[in-house]
Amino acid sequence: MSQQLQDNFGRRFHYLRMSVTDVCNFKCSYCLPDGYHPNGKQSFLTLSEIEHLVAAFAKVGTRKVRITGGEPTLRKDFTDIVRLLADNGAIHTIATTTNGYRLEKSAQEWYDAGLRRINISVDSLDPRMFYQITGENRFDQVMRGVDAALTAGFERVKINAVLLKDLNDKDLPRFLHWIKHTPIDLRFIELMETGLGHDYFQAHHLAGETIKGRLMAEGWLYDQPAVEDGPAQNFSHPDYQGRIGLIMPYSKDFCASCNRLRVSAVGKLHLCLFTEQGLDLRDLLQSASQQDELIERLHQQLRLKKETHFLHQGITGVTQHLASIGG
Ligand code: GTP
Ligand code: 5AD
Ligand code: SF4
Repeated sequence: MSQQLQDNFGRRFHYLRMSVTDVCNFKCSYCLPDGYHPNGKQSFLTLSEIEHLVAAFAKVGTRKVRITGGEPTLRKDFTDIVRLLADNGAIHTIATTTNGYRLEKSAQEWYDAGLRRINISVDSLDPRMFYQITGENRFDQVMRGVDAALTAGFERVKINAVLLKDLNDKDLPRFLHWIKHTPIDLRFIELMETGLGHDYFQAHHLAGETIKGRLMAEGWLYDQPAVEDGPAQNFSHPDYQGRIGLIMPYSKDFCASCNRLRVSAVGKLHLCLFTEQGLDLRDLLQSASQQDELIERLHQQLRLKKETHFLHQGITGVTQHLASIGG
């Protein structure tokens, strides 16, 4: 194996979040402002480009790849992408994050192709609130998808909810009730301000510390972090089968445990969700013979990774929304 990817702050990067499309069939209000559509007309990475990308990342230490979007499962060749990752051999953990739309139909097929972890966005357990946030009347379909994922045999099924003031924050007791007897990892994500999301942030941001305070008041206990956890903080409770993870990007030291890099659906390397425009890798994804050059470019770029994002200072950087970077 070549030298592993490391930045100037001693952080190592075994985890690649690879977006395969900008397109999404839901319209989650925290993600994209009303009526705004990211450009879905660009050509997204082909299977062959993905193969070259993953081969190079595997050589410099990547062991986990999460396929993201937009909605990654809208790609007709989604199962082929999973298979390609499994064929690489060095990638021990193949994961995806989905809105759950195709899960009921395809969870088993994806598992059989090699997918092992799945994170599903379920922002509310109240069908009307689910519709209000996602713009889609598909609560029942998504929940049937969650059941399909639970029975397909995945190593881990996580549920993501962005908790929002005056919207789904009232759902907290329902979420807790759900995981009392269901072994699900539930993750509450603090709303992040993006370039296009300023007004939405002002109206609906709920501080992660507030959520944490509510959990601790109900007897949830902080778990010692495992290395692979990345920036999430995890909690468990003796009376509950499920666990809770909090993603609190505004908390102190959030980025100290950053363990991930991102590549967008058009092949740009993003060292962070927020700090830079992304560097094009696509010219070096055309043939296996370019691998050494690609690896050299990755090492060079890593030296530029900043210590942290600047969200605390109200600076959203260049990121207009998270749909094109894959969150
Ligand atoms: P695991 O692999 O299960 O730990 O999940 P993950 O947190 O890496 O992946 P997931 O796609 O479920 O992440 C859910 C959301 O958390 C993303 O869409 C982002 O909104 C947020 N998130 C994930 N990673 C980061 C990060 O490095 N920084 C920030 N600020 N937010 C992140
Ligand atoms: N703040 C927090 N999370 C966001 N996501 C998208 N936009 C935002 C935002 N502004 C994440 C959520 C969701 C995933 C698809 O994208 O985690 O579950
Ligand atoms: Fe890493 Fe940037 Fe996320 Fe911080 S905000 S954890 S530096 S990707």
